[in-house]
Amino acid sequence: MALHVSSACFSAFSPGKVQKIRAVASEDFATMKMGEDKVKLGGSELKVTRLGIGAWSWGDTSYWNNFEWDDRKMKAAKAAFDASVDCGITFFDTAEVYGSRFSLGAINSETLLGRFIKESKERNPEEEVAVATKFAALPWRLGRQSVITALKDSLCRLGLSSVDLYQLHWPGIWGNEGYIDGLGDAVEQGLVKAVGVSNYNEKRLRDAYDQLKKRGITLASNQVNYSLIYRLPEENGVKVACDELGITLIAYSPIAQGALTGKYTPENPPTGPRGRIYTPEFLTRLQPLINRIKQIGQNYSKSPTQVVLNWLIAQENVIPIPGAKNGEQAKEFAGALGWRLTKEEINELRSLASETKPVIGFPVENL
Ligand SMILES: NC(=O)c1ccc[n+]([C@@H]2O[C@H](COP(=O)([O-])OP(=O)(O)OC[C@H]3O[C@@H](n4cnc5c(N)ncnc54)[C@H](OP(=O)(O)O)[C@@H]3O)[C@@H](O)[C@H]2O)c1
Repeated sequence: MALHVSSACFSAFSPGKVQKIRAVASEDFATMKMGEDKVKLGGSELKVTRLGIGAWSWGDTSYWNNFEWDDRKMKAAKAAFDASVDCGITFFDTAEVYGSRFSLGAINSETLLGRFIKESKERNPEEEVAVATKFAALPWRLGRQSVITALKDSLCRLGLSSVDLYQLHWPGIWGNEGYIDGLGDAVEQGLVKAVGVSNYNEKRLRDAYDQLKKRGITLASNQVNYSLIYRLPEENGVKVACDELGITLIAYSPIAQGALTGKYTPENPPTGPRGRIYTPEFLTRLQPLINRIKQIGQNYSKSPTQVVLNWLIAQENVIPIPGAKNGEQAKEFAGALGWRLTKEEINELRSLASETKPVIGFPVENL
């Protein structure tokens, strides 16, 4: 992980050692595995745990937390961070827009993550944490310099001199070439170890990969919505392109925002904005799948959450980043690692899941 810098914002960044990321041919992909603990992110030199933790809900009041943030939730989020690190899961995903200042009572997720890292480092200076954050391609942000400016603001909130992975959160409405150039600049200025995109369709992904490759930089990852009940990446060419080019697919909403954990039922649907997606009708249709996930899990003494995360990891070249709100949830995620569903179980779950009409994804991925 990068050096932790003083919490005061710094205006000038000393250009660190230029660290070009080698573009690799797809056949190198087979050699990327580093054992059970860590894997290389795409063709970059960055190694991360096989499962990461999503920090969207930390400090957020626009979608999560019943639109309120308080000290109790803060302590729970901190416990989620600590439990993850204690369990050996050290890859964290945040974004500049998580916990947006435009949302009443929110605290920026990057600020919280930076604070948790700093406290953890004080306890154990040897602790290595990998931080991924994201650039918001807002319509008024134009060109490569906007990426560097936003990245420096993110580093300031995180209290770090560089991040491990910097991603374009969604495609820009005016085009992406300037943003991709900005990612390359960030690598060359030593502000990031690896770069990626998010919500990119197959064509945008290939274009971004080619553009960076010309500079000798590899596109490490594409972060997209992917779970047992949302398998669009398998159908729209994104997963195949990731595998072919050696780009890691980072799976967001991998437990379908709690719907695949088995805790939400037609009688007990989620509240808030999730309730409009995972309706009692949807949850009724989901029950046969949840029941089978539970049965399979019992054979391994694993929970449904652990089974569905294991299913994603079994797709190869996929790193799920489930969101944890507390220590218990984070600990449960760790139990998704270190074992494997059989091929027959993987196929059976996919075929059972295909009988459930998927929920609507983040619409930008279809643009
Ligand atoms: N790039 C993008 O556009 C994008 C979009 C979405 C998300 N993401 C990233 O992906 C991460 C994960 O996605 P997500 O947060 O949307 O969905 P998710 O990981 O599928 O679901 C997380 C939610 O599930 C519930 N949960 C977690 N662990 C549980 C457990 N063990 N048992 C029961 N319930 C559990 C929690 O909510 P409750 O306890 O309230 O049920 C938690 O907030 C985000 O944090 C973010 O980093 C990226």
